Amino acid sequence: MMMLDTTTLNQQRNFFDGHKDIWLFGYGSLIWKADFAYLERRPAYITGWARRFWQGSHDHRGTPEAPGRVATLIRAPGTVCHGMAYRITPDVLAPLDVREKNGYLREKVPLTFLSDSGRVASEAEGLIYLATEDNPAFLGDAPLADIAYQIANAHGPSGPNRDYLLNLAQALRELGTEDAHVFALAEQLHSPS
Ligand code: BEZ
Repeated sequence: MMMLDTTTLNQQRNFFDGHKDIWLFGYGSLIWKADFAYLERRPAYITGWARRFWQGSHDHRGTPEAPGRVATLIRAPGTVCHGMAYRITPDVLAPLDVREKNGYLREKVPLTFLSDSGRVASEAEGLIYLATEDNPAFLGDAPLADIAYQIANAHGPSGPNRDYLLNLAQALRELGTEDAHVFALAEQLHSPS
């Protein structure tokens, strides 16, 4: 089974030790499903990263036998990735480490916040959960139709994989932003080629 429990590793990745609050940047399910307490949330973006459905999900949106695909970030100089930033107290991270234990590691990144009118408002250091290609659940690139097919057919304890994708596409639309990879996959689910 392609599992690496990253919980303990993440508890050692204390980039914000001693801080009373932390900005956590969500680019996947965290955009539309924040099942934790937060102090504040603000639309934000990060630069140099692209969102891709390249991480296998054996525990949430698929099973070990039939993994689903969920979002991770790959390095892409000059690319902007929009999402939602949550200001949280540090105790929120422990349950997230457990929830995202299948390959995601905490990373520190610069965040840019947007005002209601979409202008750059301010900047801060933030935290992301990142699944890199060296984690055992990483699936990587594949033809778009194959990724869409896998997502359309995978189900896991957190529900159908397709709901993850369609909820993310909807949340990005509501943020007023575009993501060609996500939108093309969502389109494929509606009208497979
Ligand atoms: C996110 O939405 O940013 C996210 C959620 C779970 C794991 C990794 C990232």
